[in-house]
Amino acid sequence: MPFRSFAEVFAAKQILVCVGSGGVGKTTTSAALALAAARAGKRTLVITIDPAKRLASSLGLAALGHDIAEVDPAVVGAGITGAGALSAMMLDQKRAFDEVVEGHAKDPAAVQRILANPVYAQVSGSLAGSQEYAAMAKLHDLDATGRWDLIVVDTPPTAHALDFLEAPAKLAAAIDSPAIEWFRKLQGGGRSGWSLLGRSGSFVLARLAKFVGSQFLDDLGVFFTEFHDILGGFRQRAEETYALLRQDKVGFVLVSSPEPMAMREALFFHERLVKSQMPLAGFVVNRVHGHRPAAATVTEVEALLAAEPAVAALGLSGTSLRMSAEALHRAHGEQELLATVDDDALKRLRAAAGGDALIVQVPLAHQDIHDLDRLIALGQTLTAPPTPRS
Ligand SMILES: Nc1ncnc2c1ncn2[C@@H]1O[C@H](COP(=O)(O)OP(=O)(O)OP(=O)(O)O)[C@@H](O)[C@H]1O
Ligand SMILES: [Mg+2]
Repeated sequence: MPFRSFAEVFAAKQILVCVGSGGVGKTTTSAALALAAARAGKRTLVITIDPAKRLASSLGLAALGHDIAEVDPAVVGAGITGAGALSAMMLDQKRAFDEVVEGHAKDPAAVQRILANPVYAQVSGSLAGSQEYAAMAKLHDLDATGRWDLIVVDTPPTAHALDFLEAPAKLAAAIDSPAIEWFRKLQGGGRSGWSLLGRSGSFVLARLAKFVGSQFLDDLGVFFTEFHDILGGFRQRAEETYALLRQDKVGFVLVSSPEPMAMREALFFHERLVKSQMPLAGFVVNRVHGHRPAAATVTEVEALLAAEPAVAALGLSGTSLRMSAEALHRAHGEQELLATVDDDALKRLRAAAGGDALIVQVPLAHQDIHDLDRLIALGQTLTAPPTPRS
């Protein structure tokens, strides 16, 4: 059954994953949804990625980091509806990846060797999909604790939102890549350094050592041997994560702006969700240009300006008053045009997403949404009951 508002979504879901292309408002939406859920009585955790300093500090969390912090109940204002509480953390992707290693290495000494390995430091940050993968692995662990009624997940600013769904597969592919396989074979699966190399392998390595140094090659060898032990665990975890994302308790929140590129991305993502049988919570179309009150004529604007004491104080009259009225009239016309373009975009989204999908529009605000009052207001927009038109 499709939802009619995010208030209904809160009642039905335990995990919300906010995805969308870069800069559309994922982090802001995640924070506003989590705050609204906490205020509605849910024990809520928001996992953010790189939130603006002012956003974190307006929740009273100046030093948000990888460890979970409780937001002061006085800030949440949860007293109004009972048990609600808000916790927040900022995902440190490197630490999340380290935790996956810790969970799968065969003993603590192996963990230390891997984490200290210079090749690991490089690879853990640059392996395709590793950041998204680390985020999902963390979600998987936190969900398993059962501490929260609702976990809201912000996602990394991927250039392409689909990267997020493809992360586990990409990581598995990188792990299985021919290059890694080659090194693993050279190592012979043992811990005897490069001693098992055949003659041609030795020759290649000797040539390589000239370029990259033999220390690097040793590090590489140790890394692949050690890492091999945990690869099976990684793959298993990727499968578990995928399975989690298909559960009914999960809902994807597709955040977009009305711009064609962002809309297209949200619709692609929607198609992927349908294909992968992953549940949609709804669309949030952020930064929509609103319609202003009916346009007046230039002469009417001029009369309004003339009656305005602040304008009189500026000494505007005659030609300058007329020119100001014309400029305002033009700006209003442009605003109306933008609002009409956004209306069309929303209509197309509604047609493409299926008539009954939840689509919430959020108006473009004049300022960034960082302070508590604006976050609460955004939460109210997101959870408001549907109006007959939307
Ligand atoms: N409706 C809105 N009106 C005005 N400003 C907004 C609105 N929504 C978000 N913003 C502002 O836009 C900026 C980008 O928002 P946000 O950080 O949430 O985007 P994001 O999708 O998380 O970006 P990234 O992909 O870089 O992580 C922020 O400064 C935020 O305050
Ligand atoms: Mg963000």
